[in-house]
Amino acid sequence: MALAPMAGVTDSAFRQMAKEGGADVVYSEMASVAALVHNSGKTLEMLKAAPRERPYVVQLFGADPKHFAIAARLVEEKIGPDGLDINFGCPVKKVQKQGAGAVLMENLDLSRKVVESVLANTALPVSVKCRTAVGRVKVKEFLEKIADLDVEAVMIHGRAMSQGHSGEIDTEAIKNARQSFKGLVLANGGVRSWEDAYDLLEKTGADGVGVARGALGRPWIFSEIREKETFIKNKEEIFALIREQARLAEATAGRQGIIELRKHLCWYVAGLPDASELRRQFVLIKTLEDIEAIIKAP
Ligand SMILES: Cc1cc2nc3c(=O)[nH]c(=O)nc-3n(C[C@H](O)[C@H](O)[C@H](O)COP(=O)(O)O)c2cc1C
Repeated sequence: MALAPMAGVTDSAFRQMAKEGGADVVYSEMASVAALVHNSGKTLEMLKAAPRERPYVVQLFGADPKHFAIAARLVEEKIGPDGLDINFGCPVKKVQKQGAGAVLMENLDLSRKVVESVLANTALPVSVKCRTAVGRVKVKEFLEKIADLDVEAVMIHGRAMSQGHSGEIDTEAIKNARQSFKGLVLANGGVRSWEDAYDLLEKTGADGVGVARGALGRPWIFSEIREKETFIKNKEEIFALIREQARLAEATAGRQGIIELRKHLCWYVAGLPDASELRRQFVLIKTLEDIEAIIKAP
């Protein structure tokens, strides 16, 4: 069970919450290899992780194999994660324009060169994350192109690039891909409950699942999957989790960590009766004390 990468979301504090919530492995936000090459300070800061996050995978995105080579060495040396993942799935326009993410998957030769470049420049396990299809390229073909390389795992988002982040999950495509890949296969897309996870595993024959949005405000979803049980948290339990993530956010990212936390707090309270009033207050918080004042109020 993996916490799938989410830019702007899977920061160190949230990864620690997901680990505590039962995730076996957590992925960083995607990190630009061009940024790592030209001005690495801010990106390396973003990628720092706490020991309790292990196993921790850093995800890289870009399009230039030379950049991937330098970035892989740099991240291994300065961050020391347990694995490196390459993004072949991001559909965002800004990433597309660089020829990176999902559009890179459509260029099979360049995709292979990128994977080779990372493998040649790290001793860490290497994985890829891709789509079921980008344009005319299907996931099976993509995995066949890199089948002889030492890629340990693939997380397949069960949607074509054209679907973005919504719509039906193509379980058949993941199932077919399973047969063309010797490493671990993680199926991803649409897991919002433990029942969804087993349904996806059964339909795809995958070795595990990647959960992204299903973990927002519910980092314990991984324990639910493990225990095959739904855990409904009451207000006190939710507030305890909020306090814990806030403490971690401040410890790892200071004031900016608290600002980044606002969206997480809104997700945490989504199921509570006074959610809209709490959200109205959470979007304005700047300090730990602001959070405490809201959750202490009668
Ligand atoms: C806000 C957001 C940010 C994302 N950022 C990344 C990213 O940095 N790298 C990546 O490979 N996928 C990214 N994704 C895609 C997710 O990892 C996942 O593949 C997708 O959301 C489908 O899974 P889900 O239905 O469990 O959310 C992002 C998705 C969301 C919603």
